[in-house]
Amino acid sequence: MSKRCMKERAFVKKTREFSKKLHIDVVKNLLVFDELDSTNSTAKDLAHYGAEEGTIVIARTQNQGRGRFDRIWQSPEGGIYLSFILRPRILAEKTSLLPFVAALALTKTIDSYGLHATIKWPNDVRVNGKKIAGILLESEVIGHAINYVVVGIGMNLNIDITHFSTDIQPRSTSMIHELGSPVDYHEFLRKFFIQFGSFYKLFVEQQYDRIIDEWKIHTDTLGKTIRVQTSTETLQGIASDIDQSGFLLLRTERGETKKIMSGDCLYFDELYHT
Ligand code: BTN
Repeated sequence: MSKRCMKERAFVKKTREFSKKLHIDVVKNLLVFDELDSTNSTAKDLAHYGAEEGTIVIARTQNQGRGRFDRIWQSPEGGIYLSFILRPRILAEKTSLLPFVAALALTKTIDSYGLHATIKWPNDVRVNGKKIAGILLESEVIGHAINYVVVGIGMNLNIDITHFSTDIQPRSTSMIHELGSPVDYHEFLRKFFIQFGSFYKLFVEQQYDRIIDEWKIHTDTLGKTIRVQTSTETLQGIASDIDQSGFLLLRTERGETKKIMSGDCLYFDELYHT
């Protein structure tokens, strides 16, 4: 058997054993793969055919990992690539807070290693101003009801950042890069699932204010002069607040306040350094 094949099998075996000993409510069924096109795509297929809430798809690597706005999510070995299938019984408009749940869980987990993670609206998790994790939410809504939500998480754990393409390298970091030593994959995962479970509990209990208050503690977006690229326009102004659904309130130079549901956010003070 080749070295690569042994590594693949070891990952699947160890992660399946790990999942049997987890006993965390939010993790009902951890489906482990060596390589997938995209854990989000597999999770969406499974959700479509009825997979229960708490089913999680995880892969050692992805060959067609997807990011927001149809970008490629480079997924080399050493990262965490997983997707939660959730079926919360809440108003569809509140799903926009689910990426906050994931971002907060990641932030708390990263901080437990002595780092200081921050959240850039809406849900980029960064350390020292560089992206360490991203979140991709995809959902199916029927009428006003949510059929399922897939929350995909890509976390740069033990990735040598020189393995990323040169365009994203200067803006990316990883745990191993920040700490100078590798982090145990399964230990990180356990801590993350615990955090995700507690923030998701707040979400299903509709304690949205607590999620928003916590997000405001960990974001570095509010108060900053930013440029936001939405699907239709580019806006500039001061990020003044977020509303109850997590939408950004931007105060423009003309004194108007614009509500932005989704977009790519750039900080002015970083614009010419990246
Ligand atoms: C972003 O910041 O653009 C979001 C990146 C999300 C990447 C994760 S990796 C696991 C899951 N599967 C995917 O194809 N994408 C998400």
